[in-house]
Amino acid sequence: MSTIRLRTPVPGPRSRELMRRSDAAVVRGAYHATPVFVNKAEDAVVEDVDGNQFIDFAGGIGCLNTGHRNPRVIEAIRRQLDRFLHTSFNVLSYESYVALAERLNAITPGKFAKKTLLVNTGAEATENAIKIARAYTKRPAIIAFEDAFHGRTYMAMAVTSKTHPYKAGFEPFPAEVYRVPFAYCYRCSYSLQYPSCEVHCARHIEDTFKRLVAAETVAAVIVEPVMGEGGFITPPPEFFPILTEICRKHGILVIADEVQTGFARTGALFASERLGLEPDLITMAKSLSGGLPLAAVTGRAEIMDTTGAGTLGGTFGGNPIACEAALAVLDVIESENLCARANHLGELFRNRTTQWQKRWELIGEVRGIGAMQALELVRSRTTREPADEETKQIAQYCYEHGLILITAGTYGNVIRLLMPLVITDAQMNEGLDVLEAALASVCDRKSAVAQLV
Ligand SMILES: Cc1ncc(COP(=O)(O)O)c(C=O)c1O
Repeated sequence: MSTIRLRTPVPGPRSRELMRRSDAAVVRGAYHATPVFVNKAEDAVVEDVDGNQFIDFAGGIGCLNTGHRNPRVIEAIRRQLDRFLHTSFNVLSYESYVALAERLNAITPGKFAKKTLLVNTGAEATENAIKIARAYTKRPAIIAFEDAFHGRTYMAMAVTSKTHPYKAGFEPFPAEVYRVPFAYCYRCSYSLQYPSCEVHCARHIEDTFKRLVAAETVAAVIVEPVMGEGGFITPPPEFFPILTEICRKHGILVIADEVQTGFARTGALFASERLGLEPDLITMAKSLSGGLPLAAVTGRAEIMDTTGAGTLGGTFGGNPIACEAALAVLDVIESENLCARANHLGELFRNRTTQWQKRWELIGEVRGIGAMQALELVRSRTTREPADEETKQIAQYCYEHGLILITAGTYGNVIRLLMPLVITDAQMNEGLDVLEAALASVCDRKSAVAQLV
């Protein structure tokens, strides 16, 4: 029995009406990828206000690894609702904040003593990790990567790479940010090929210390283990060991931004574990709290404790409902073995997409680890010209046919998978059927046009 059930064309009349109101009342900058308004959601299934039922491959941009309204998360939230909603941890503290800090200290990579700060968003986690790194090292500079995304506040924008829509028009940004190429092998900034390149991009950081910024002035390197918004760019296994060795040599901290990669998405609790990265500080958000706003910075205790009382946090940081939800999320990931599930879903995707790749030139690369999988679409495999328009058409076809799916990539030409990891195999395959039909529709249209020309 299929999950997708469409009662109206998408968007339906009620979604259209709400979109008119939204256009009139809500800022343009708060963009939405689909014109669909939600009524309710469960696991990997979303129902819109017109009664249409969709499979969700976006998971609220990777926030729902444990699924929409996971029953154990809902139960934890309910229990907390009956106790108290907010006291501010800065005024009256509560056990769940402490318990979550203990838990994150224990499960994040690195067998050293750790401490944790809770905040509300990924961007806030970025801000705080950089604040802490600068305070500890007493150095000003931060190295960030091309294709990185770390959020929309000012420091987070400064370390983010993509100009449109994230940065252009918002200048000037905070100073002392230096940018270097990531291991984007499909579009190597040095026009080299892996493995004969010997991971030049990681080694080249040493050159950066001569040309751009002196190593002894660099506080930290901030890096997503797998680039999220940048297009699910997965570095080769040598990249992080080389990078961390260089950083350690120069007393530079490594901040791993696991906001999108964290909590089982890549087949391990954290992508760092899969890629040989042992960060000094780690930022987390998104799937941490099963759909509630919560973020964290966890790191070496001596670094995290550099700054004095009152220097970090905020009124709502570590909200008690979000903390209880997060503790339940961690239980669910463990007891439902969502890391193994992520690997299984990734394999399912790979098995189908490698067939698609034989059929359609449009698929330039299939890449990713665990369930963090993506397709990079190109107009020609020789020129690798980004197929951005085609990517938009595919995403549109998908939502019109019952699959919510989002794109990524500096060139807007990547289809990414962020479905809840609790999705059933049947739903996963049904979603992939829609994606396959979307690819067929766009590729067939392209070849029909080519024949006419
Ligand atoms: C890797 C990464 N870091 C930081 C952020 C910013 O998180 P937030 O939108 O919660 O501020 C995001 C959001 O997509 C992200 O993917």
